[in-house]
Amino acid sequence: MAQKIAISCHGLSKAFGALKAVNDVHLEVPEGTILGIGGPNGAGKTTLFDVISGIQPPTSGRYFVNGLEATKLGVDRLCHMGMARTFQADAGFDTMSALENVRVATYFGTGERKRPGLVFDRVSKDRAFEALSAVGLKDYADVAVGSMPVLERKLVMLAGALAMEPRILLMDEPVGGLTPKEMATFIEVVQRLKRENITIVIIEHVMSFLLGLCERIVIMHQGSVIFSGTKHEMLSDPQVVEVYLGSTAVNHLKSQFNLKEVVV
Ligand SMILES: Nc1ncnc2c1ncn2[C@@H]1O[C@H](COP(=O)(O)OP(=O)(O)O)[C@@H](O)[C@H]1O
Ligand SMILES: [Mg+2]
Repeated sequence: MAQKIAISCHGLSKAFGALKAVNDVHLEVPEGTILGIGGPNGAGKTTLFDVISGIQPPTSGRYFVNGLEATKLGVDRLCHMGMARTFQADAGFDTMSALENVRVATYFGTGERKRPGLVFDRVSKDRAFEALSAVGLKDYADVAVGSMPVLERKLVMLAGALAMEPRILLMDEPVGGLTPKEMATFIEVVQRLKRENITIVIIEHVMSFLLGLCERIVIMHQGSVIFSGTKHEMLSDPQVVEVYLGSTAVNHLKSQFNLKEVVV
């Protein structure tokens, strides 16, 4: 049986005036796989997520989620179709506790709502607590998000996405600025979601993180996809080396991944 495609983009573009932030992007993410997206600052990675997650409409092109056209759908519809997203900035409701933040997210997931309006039931509290526990934050349940360090704030955002019980998860630079030890929680969560057949797309500059987790990598530059393939192909691609990675980093990554295939 053919593998189902969770996300497919056909000539997707997003312009801001004369700037083509995303330029004619074609890509496919098969269900249950992990795609990594890299590329220099300003390459259009976040804008691509903004379009796919319904925050910004594309200027041209079309995209499909689970085979259904999603080009004109807003954030709410995409969310109810099972798409969740985390942001580059560690966004949260600062004056609310971690549990309250995540509980808000449970409201927007795929589940049926029994009553209209922002009404939370007991189950939502349990689900929020479960999601906080899954990212190692149950001791922070009652702590205001505004007073938390950056790692914990990022984890609250991830817990919010998980509490929505997504089938597709988009993560925008989840581990930027974290130590290797701090990254371990994210690696564990992503590996667990993969076992649950959740489709994941990760934007990240930390290449060892990306290469350790992703089956396929896409590199963007000036709005366009300049590379799509395996990590081995990427590390031998002259254009990727020239515009993004540089030869020193490539040599380092090559030796790291020849020795240890899928371990960060
Ligand atoms: N809302 C916006 N209005 C105008 N320009 C934008 C907007 N969002 C992004 N851009 C521009 O689009 C380009 C791509 O940005 P972005 O998608 O954030 O890149 P990346 O995530 O790869 O660093 C940049 O030149 C950025 O300044
Ligand atoms: Mg970005």
